Amino acid sequence: MKLVIVKDYQEMSRKAAELLASEVKQHPQTVLGLATGGTPVGMYRELIKLHEDEGIDFSQAQSFNLDEYVGLSSAHPQSYRAYMQENLFQHINLPADKTHVPTGDAVDLDKECARYEEAIREAGGIDIQVLGIGNNGHIGFNEPGSSAESTTRVVQLTESTIEANARYFASVEEVPTQAVSMGIKTILGAKKVVLLASGEAKAQAVRLMVEGEPTADVPASLLQLHPDVTVIVDEAAASQLT
Ligand code: F6R
Repeated sequence: MKLVIVKDYQEMSRKAAELLASEVKQHPQTVLGLATGGTPVGMYRELIKLHEDEGIDFSQAQSFNLDEYVGLSSAHPQSYRAYMQENLFQHINLPADKTHVPTGDAVDLDKECARYEEAIREAGGIDIQVLGIGNNGHIGFNEPGSSAESTTRVVQLTESTIEANARYFASVEEVPTQAVSMGIKTILGAKKVVLLASGEAKAQAVRLMVEGEPTADVPASLLQLHPDVTVIVDEAAASQLT
């Protein structure tokens, strides 16, 4: 793991956006793996700026998001599809039919999971996967206990994840309890991985990911098995590293 410690959220966001932009510049047909949540919002903002000011061109790229809530249609304001539209897709020139987010309200979810894995394979695999990290060490919605062999599937969200995500919903009861998520094996299949973490609430998970033994109890620690991972953390998220 390559560890990059930066001052704050702003610097983390800028560094991550530069990494993605340089990937797209060098290889216009890049397949991007994208995340939602609070952490990458600043990175998307910086990426939009790079598109507007420096003409970073996404017209030949494609994207696959990590996850989507089960039961939410793409039009639901709290769906991850809606988040991506709002925070990135509507501001850059990534072709709409090349942006992939699992369909959380598919009639046959198992079929949808298999279709998603197949679509990633058909695209030639993910070139660079962006990740955040849950307070409990989850990546994507691979909660503690997720197998290193897991692929895209329906997962049950833990209480702590539901509580952490309740800030986006009117009440905790409205937070879906399941999601479709890429598996650990899907994530480890990306050629490069960039994980972002900001703030003290992530410090323990960051320490276990970087310094702990690789274990399914802390899914992010399984990234130690990947040959090309860059972890960009701010000083607060790095505060428990020895
Ligand atoms: C989002 C995702 C999650 C988040 C994680 C951190 O697509 O898969 O793993 O990255 O829950 O969320 P934030 O950034 O909101 O702290």
